[in-house]
Amino acid sequence: MIRSIVSAAVLTIGFATVATAQDAKKGEQLFTEQKCSLCHSIAGKGNTKGPMDDVGRKLKPEEIREWIVDAKGMTAKTNAERKPEMKAFTLPKEDVDALVAYLSTLKKKK
Ligand code: HEC
Repeated sequence: MIRSIVSAAVLTIGFATVATAQDAKKGEQLFTEQKCSLCHSIAGKGNTKGPMDDVGRKLKPEEIREWIVDAKGMTAKTNAERKPEMKAFTLPKEDVDALVAYLSTLKKKK
C-alpha cells in the first residue's frame, strides 16, 4: 500500500518534468484534431490568413491560453476583425495546456 503511494508519487514527479516536451507534441496533434487549421496555418499548412508561425514570440503563454478558453473575450479585447471569428473551445485543461505548450514553441527564425 505505502509502496504503491510512493511509486505513484515518483511517477507523478517524473511526468511533471517531461511534461513540456510531451505536451508540445500532444498540442501539435490537437491543433490538427481540433481543426484550428481551418482558420490558422503553421509552416504554410492551413489557412494562411491566420499564420501562427511566430505566435510564441508575439504572445505570452497566458495570452495564448486566453484565446483558447475565451476567444470571444479576446476578439473583443484585441478588436480582431477577421471573419469568421474564433469560437469558444471547451477543452479539458490538459488539452489547453498542451496547445499552449506547443504554440509557445512557435517562433520564427530571423
Ligand atoms: C473559425 C475560425 C477559427 C478557428 C477554428 C480557430 N481560430 Fe484562432 N483565431 C481566429 C481569428 C479570426 C483570430 C483573430 C486574430 C486573427 O485575425 O488571426 C484568432 C486568433 C487566435 C490566436 C491569437 C493570434 C494572434 O496572432 O494574436 C490564437 C493563439 C489562436 N487563435 C489559437 C487558436 C487555436 C489553438 C485554435 C484551435 C483550438 C483556433 N485558434 C481555432 C479564428 C479561428
